[in-house]
Amino acid sequence: MNRRQTAREALQAKPVSASRSEMAEVVLPATTNPLGKLLGGHVMHLVDIAAAMAASRHANSYVVTASVDHIDFRNPVNIGELVILKAQVNRVFRTSMEVGVKVFSENALTGERKHTTTAYVTFVAIDAGTREPKVVAPLKIKTAEERRRWREAGERRKIRLALRYKKRRKGD
Ligand SMILES: CC(C)(COP(=O)(O)OP(=O)(O)OC[C@H]1O[C@@H](n2cnc3c(N)ncnc32)[C@H](O)[C@@H]1OP(=O)(O)O)[C@@H](O)C(=O)NCCC(=O)NCCS
Repeated sequence: MNRRQTAREALQAKPVSASRSEMAEVVLPATTNPLGKLLGGHVMHLVDIAAAMAASRHANSYVVTASVDHIDFRNPVNIGELVILKAQVNRVFRTSMEVGVKVFSENALTGERKHTTTAYVTFVAIDAGTREPKVVAPLKIKTAEERRRWREAGERRKIRLALRYKKRRKGD
C-alpha cells in the first residue's frame, strides 16, 4: 500500500448532505444590465462561491477552482427577485471534487420559482502548509439520485481531463 492510499483510507467517508450549501441574495441595480436582468458574470461569481462552500465543507480544507463546465442561462433573473443557489458535492476523485450548482430565481411577491442555471465546478483541495493538492475524504452515496449524479460526474470528468491534458498538435 502506498502513502497516498494510506492517506485516503485514514479519512472517514462523508455523506453528500455534509456538503449541501445554499445561498440567496436580492437582485439590486448594481448587478443588473440596462434591461434589469441579473448579469451573467455575477451569476458565475455566485456559482463559484456556492460551489466552493460545498467543496470546502466536504473536504474541511482550502479549495481552489480547477475547472468550470459550460454554463447555460435558461431564464433571466429580474431586478427585485431573489437569486437562490443550491450546491452539493456530486463525486470525489482523489484530490478533486465535482460540485453541482443549481440556480433559481424567486419572485417573492408571487412565490414563483424558476430554474435558471445548472453548473458543474471542479475543486481541488489544497494543503494549508505545502499549498499542494491533498487527498479528500470519500463520498458516501445513499440515494438513487446521488448515485445518478455520481455516475454522470465520472462521464463529465473524462471530457474535462481530455480537454485539459490533450496533446498539443503541431502548429498550435
Ligand atoms: C487546479 C490545480 C491545483 C491543479 O494542480 P496540478 O498541479 O495541475 O495538479 P494535478 O495534475 O495533480 O491535478 C490535481 C487534481 O486536479 C484535477 N484537475 C486538474 N485539472 C482539472 C480539470 N480541468 N478538470 C477536472 N479536474 C482537474 C486532477 O484530475 C487532479 O484530481 P484527482 O487527484 O482527483 O485525480 C492547479 O492547476 C492550480 O492551482 N490552478 C489554479 C487554481 C486557481 O487559481 N483557481 C482560481 C482561484 S480559486
